[in-house]
Amino acid sequence: MRIQVKSGRFSHVAGGVQVLGALEGEERFQQLLPASGSDRQLERLAGQAGLRGGLGETVLLPYGKRWVLIVGLGKAKDLTLDRVRQLGGTAARAARARGFTSLVLPVLSDAKLGLPAVVAQAVAEGALLGLYRFDKLRQVPKYERKKRIDAITLVVGRPRDAALARKGADKAQVIAEAVSMVRDLINGPSNLVTPTVLANEARKLAKQFRLKCTVTPFARLKRLGFGGIVGVARGSEHPAQFIVLEYRPARAKATFALCGKGITFDTGGINIKPSNKMELMKYDMSGAAAVLGTMKAAATLKLPVKIVGIIAATENMPSGTAQKPGDVLTTLSGKTVEVLNTDAEGRLVLSDCLHYAKRYKPDACIDLATLTGACVVALGSEAVGLMANDEPLAARITESGKRTRERVWRLPLWEEYGGPLVRSDIADLKNVTNTGEAGTITAAKFLEQFTEGLKWAHLDIAGTAWTEKDKPYVPKGAVGIGVRLLVDLMERWK
Ligand code: BES
Ligand code: MN
Ligand code: ZN
Repeated sequence: MRIQVKSGRFSHVAGGVQVLGALEGEERFQQLLPASGSDRQLERLAGQAGLRGGLGETVLLPYGKRWVLIVGLGKAKDLTLDRVRQLGGTAARAARARGFTSLVLPVLSDAKLGLPAVVAQAVAEGALLGLYRFDKLRQVPKYERKKRIDAITLVVGRPRDAALARKGADKAQVIAEAVSMVRDLINGPSNLVTPTVLANEARKLAKQFRLKCTVTPFARLKRLGFGGIVGVARGSEHPAQFIVLEYRPARAKATFALCGKGITFDTGGINIKPSNKMELMKYDMSGAAAVLGTMKAAATLKLPVKIVGIIAATENMPSGTAQKPGDVLTTLSGKTVEVLNTDAEGRLVLSDCLHYAKRYKPDACIDLATLTGACVVALGSEAVGLMANDEPLAARITESGKRTRERVWRLPLWEEYGGPLVRSDIADLKNVTNTGEAGTITAAKFLEQFTEGLKWAHLDIAGTAWTEKDKPYVPKGAVGIGVRLLVDLMERWK
């Protein structure tokens, strides 16, 4: 779907149901936005319909020859860019649910929100991301199939803003396509999204964008000493794949290494997980998917930075060949690890990825992983856990988190969380601490052992990669978190 951009008086723009925003008032909404889409009579009708303007509220009104869909934005003082993104999502979904096939969205102009490019991107992103559905694997009933938005028009007030809004809309489209790809991979079940399938996705991107792609399959990983990945992969019938994807534009300002945890299914291995909700563990490759999506977006946008995507893709299965508690493996770095719990597999595969990243001498190395249940407990589903060994990098990621609303929250990497806690009696390291404390941090302390010389940040996305409830621009299921955050980070890198 291509988004159109038009300028002019909002109420005059045809192209489907017209979406207005409403600022919240006391008993009644305070104001409809944009002003050029509304008039006294419409305000009266909206008032009669009981519109208050609370965030996410929707009211559909027939008005003259047009249909108007009003979406609550909350109080004027709380208006943010993310609420504009939410408006896009809420409006698009409400319009679709009511059988409209096209909609007209305003690019609100407000000093607090930013330039038209930014506002246009937000509202378009919201709409496109909100409309996402995963229906590859079911027969969509006819009445539902007909409920399809196939045209979106953005409207700016001033003609001279149209070009900027056009840029924003284009970027939104790139982002939404990348995020949708990520969501498809995560929502896809583990029998269909295998390590081989992830490798093929990477190859596909390589072909499409002329990236370099190297895939090292299980047998070779064994010979090359990727002990962390191999240990985890031993129990699986699907061969592990170590995927390296490189985007190298001509004039690059910096080099990023992005490492992704790609456990296509985490049963826990011999330390098997309880069966309750185990099906969710298909999402344990969300980090890997985010790396692929970020590279797709970055390559499409031609960002002037080098990116090396490093993905360890494997299942974590129990079987006669699986690694067992107490086994000792030798990671790629040469450090040995006593595997006290086979369910702490993410840090094992990532240890090889992080070590491998060093050869690219990146300006920043960032890993994304659904690493710990403890992160879900600590931060829930709103914040990504951030742990970093470099202050400026942590600050930049935090800033991008605020801008994109893929918010991160820092946890410390103080030495007291590591040291003896990750040391084994018989090997260099052990993969769990078993204190029952600070599980997210101790996992990161383990990873830190493999990051010498790197400016490194670890993003624990265990709580944020999946949502059990519909949100304005994130339907239930895979979130696709990480793409918008990292694209923003790399785009603004100086
Ligand atoms: N993939 C899980 C982390 C996870 C668990 C994410 C639950 C979301 C919900 C990871 O591989 C894991 O199993 N971690 C263990 C570590 C423990 C054995 C030290 C955990 O968090 O329980
Ligand atoms: Mn696990
Ligand atoms: Zn896992």
